[in-house]
Amino acid sequence: MSFAPNVERFSFDDALKPEIDRILAKFPPARKQSAVMPLLHLAQRQHGGWLPRAALDHVAEFLEMPKIKVYEVASFYDMYNTVPTGRIQVRVCTTTPCWLCGSDDIVRAASDTLGIDIGESSEDGRFFLREFECLGACCNAPMMWIDDDYYEDLDYDRAVAVLEAIKRGETPKAGPQSGRRGSEPFGERKTLLDAASERQEPTGPTSTPEPDLTPERKGRPEDRQQRPTSPLAEAAAEQVEKVKSGELDDEVVAVDPKPGKRSKPAAKDTD
Ligand code: FES
Repeated sequence: MSFAPNVERFSFDDALKPEIDRILAKFPPARKQSAVMPLLHLAQRQHGGWLPRAALDHVAEFLEMPKIKVYEVASFYDMYNTVPTGRIQVRVCTTTPCWLCGSDDIVRAASDTLGIDIGESSEDGRFFLREFECLGACCNAPMMWIDDDYYEDLDYDRAVAVLEAIKRGETPKAGPQSGRRGSEPFGERKTLLDAASERQEPTGPTSTPEPDLTPERKGRPEDRQQRPTSPLAEAAAEQVEKVKSGELDDEVVAVDPKPGKRSKPAAKDTD
């Protein structure tokens, strides 16, 4: 196989300087280490799909951060390869929404077209095929992520067509391959329609009466009252009942907040 070789020295190509400056401009100078992920991405792309240790070290020096921190990032995230792989990264999402929409067919299409299985690189070192967890395009499932582009709304034939085009050296149009522009519903539009007549209420003998959406209330009103739920509340309710019945004066009612220890109410003055 002809992978990009391991190298002892690595530095960013001059052509990447504008892109690097654009990335660094997003962060305060004292926080430029925050650019580690996009710079690793650039380094991987420059080096043909994988990151030799010299590239990791260069990113660490470039961002003035400990090498071990760059190694940690590169070895933690799935999108970085620290061993040689094919240059063109083909990732098929196989998480549940894509799987339910047929990602097995997309894996099969990629495998048939590229002649490799998941986790393998093609003999010519051009392609690396792997499966991926959700890539955030579930509403256009199933999908593939190839280098920097998403290809969505795939089926077996569409996936084959995309990959065959890339094999020929073409760059197929990224995005949904179904004719959708984005993630709008298939078929007729169902939202954002400005047809006032469609919003008019139906009239005449065919109109359907509005359903009564009032919640059904069962039982007598007094049964629906909130019941005491604690010893303190029970004591209070008990004394309220005594005040109502005239057994206690409403000015001498007192309830000890400690459950089971109620203060003795003063006897009602009957004079
Ligand atoms: S499950 Fe495939 S993009 Fe989310």
